[in-house]
Amino acid sequence: MKRVTLTQFLIEQQRKEQALPAQLRLLLEIVARACKAISFTVGKGELGDVLGSHGSENIQGEVQKKLDVIANDLLVEANEWGGHLGALASEEMDTIHVIPNRYPKGEYLLLYDPIDGSSNIDVNLTVGTIFSVLVAPEDASGREIGEADFLQPGSRQVAAGYAVYGPQTMLVLSVGTGVFGFTLDREMGAWLLTHQNMSIPAVSSEFAINMSNSRHWAPPMRRYIEECISGTEGPRGKDFNMRWTASMVADVHRILQRGGIFLYPWDAREPNRAGKLRLMYEANPMGFLIEQAGGAATDGQRRILDIQPSALHERVGVVMGSRDEVDLIATYLKTS
Ligand code: AHG
Ligand code: MN
Ligand code: MN
Ligand code: MN
Repeated sequence: MKRVTLTQFLIEQQRKEQALPAQLRLLLEIVARACKAISFTVGKGELGDVLGSHGSENIQGEVQKKLDVIANDLLVEANEWGGHLGALASEEMDTIHVIPNRYPKGEYLLLYDPIDGSSNIDVNLTVGTIFSVLVAPEDASGREIGEADFLQPGSRQVAAGYAVYGPQTMLVLSVGTGVFGFTLDREMGAWLLTHQNMSIPAVSSEFAINMSNSRHWAPPMRRYIEECISGTEGPRGKDFNMRWTASMVADVHRILQRGGIFLYPWDAREPNRAGKLRLMYEANPMGFLIEQAGGAATDGQRRILDIQPSALHERVGVVMGSRDEVDLIATYLKTS
């Protein structure tokens, strides 16, 4: 069966939806090619001297893995020269990376988490790459892009996606016309369309959360999880299953395919922090995909994509997946 390649899909999207200006198509092709290179690098493991710590700390206060830095730099090098970007921002860079003057500049802003699930790298478990695309503000043309130009709500994203480096390497993306999945054909090195119009079932019986934090959650969150765990004997009247893969990409990828809810809520370990996950390059792109697939994404109450960022590396509580579960949690938090 002849499958549609990513290039063919993007050209057809351009023709059909006019939602895909040529420069955005170029950006997505370049990011996809960089994710292929990251997949091959991740796959080398110990053989490629890519495991273990890089020895430095990022602005998040995390010790960077070698692959965090390798993947970050791969995406900078791949995107710098193309003329489609004004600047890039990444979990692994303290501030934005403005395209050097020796290259042409474009109107797009790329934000990314080069390796999501870094704690899985050295134990050979699934990791991913997350990316989000914004358009630089009108008034930015003719001046240098600044950090403030990135501080746009997630509803302004023109594209978002992730690569998941699991048993298969897949690229899942949306340009606002639904969610599409591409599987990497390793012989040809081509991304082939394998999942059309991915959609999340509204009802589910699977939750993803790090249970070791339960004593630190707000009471309504504890109530929601306790009701899931009490199964048929409790008010939900059905049994739930739990998964936690320590990679948001892996958990959200599962939820996009079989439903469920992903939770990283506020907890009292750092009461002044809204949550662990980052708004600009984790919650926003994943929230965009989840909504495009018919699900919902909130910080517990507010729609993620409506949140006006105040800092590039801002953190946020995350509740996303099957709409009915997201709505139930919002009612519990409202009545608290
Ligand atoms: P990253 O590896 O990019 O820093 O992100 C890790 C995030 C997310 O992918 C995952 O869901 C969560 O951290 C896991 O957190 P815990 O280790 O606290 O469970
Ligand atoms: Mn991450
Ligand atoms: Mn990361
Ligand atoms: Mn990290």
